[in-house]
Amino acid sequence: MLIDTHTHLYLKQFDADRKEVIGRAEEAGIKKFFLPNIDSKSIDSMLKMEVDFPGKCFAMMGLHPCSVKEDYKKELQIVEAWLQKRKFCAIGEIGIDLYWDKTFFEQQKKSFLTQVEWAIDLKLPIVIHCRESIDITIELLQPYKNKVKGIFHCFGGTVEQAKKIMELDFLMGIGGVLTYKKAKLNEVVKEIPLEYLVLETDSPYLAPVPYRGKRNESGYVKNIAERLAEAKNLSIDEVAKATTHNALNLFK
Ligand code: NI
Repeated sequence: MLIDTHTHLYLKQFDADRKEVIGRAEEAGIKKFFLPNIDSKSIDSMLKMEVDFPGKCFAMMGLHPCSVKEDYKKELQIVEAWLQKRKFCAIGEIGIDLYWDKTFFEQQKKSFLTQVEWAIDLKLPIVIHCRESIDITIELLQPYKNKVKGIFHCFGGTVEQAKKIMELDFLMGIGGVLTYKKAKLNEVVKEIPLEYLVLETDSPYLAPVPYRGKRNESGYVKNIAERLAEAKNLSIDEVAKATTHNALNLFK
């Protein structure tokens, strides 16, 4: 059994064939799907997936750094209200994104830390988006060491950064980037013990080879698992067993 720890299957890219996408994933061995929220606009369709696919899809709640704009306080209030209303498997996805736009960097930091503190209060793990911001994110988490756990999603960092993440006792989400020829991630994962890794697609984005550039879907976790097994010289069963255990252990 494999798990997609990070998929946006609720987005409109899947409106036409969501059921088939889940069916194909299940056939490939992917049995559970963890859904990170983006902002107030994505909540309804995300929660609908939990209703449509009970025991398979699990929602997170959080405000994505790319959705942190002028109105971020209002967005955070909505997240907070939902966290009080019902149980979620994690707070996510939250973090810092310095790739697209640095205008709201200060607000992104505030939003991130506010949500980290909510996670600590609610004893929930966090799922972190850290595009072009791994070092700053690691630094921001230092005061919270041993108080909160979670995943650095779409990890594409160096061995040094991986070590710092392991010191924080966080996991790293490995996705399609692992299959890209130019990615150094192939070498980096050799230095990361399996206990710190989970698998993800981030679908519909970042499809692995041989689907690169096309819509990503959860079934492709299998391709990522195969590539990881190859890189670490392990069997796919070993990779599946460990990454599934890590994911279930974190999300409870
Ligand atoms: Ni994402």
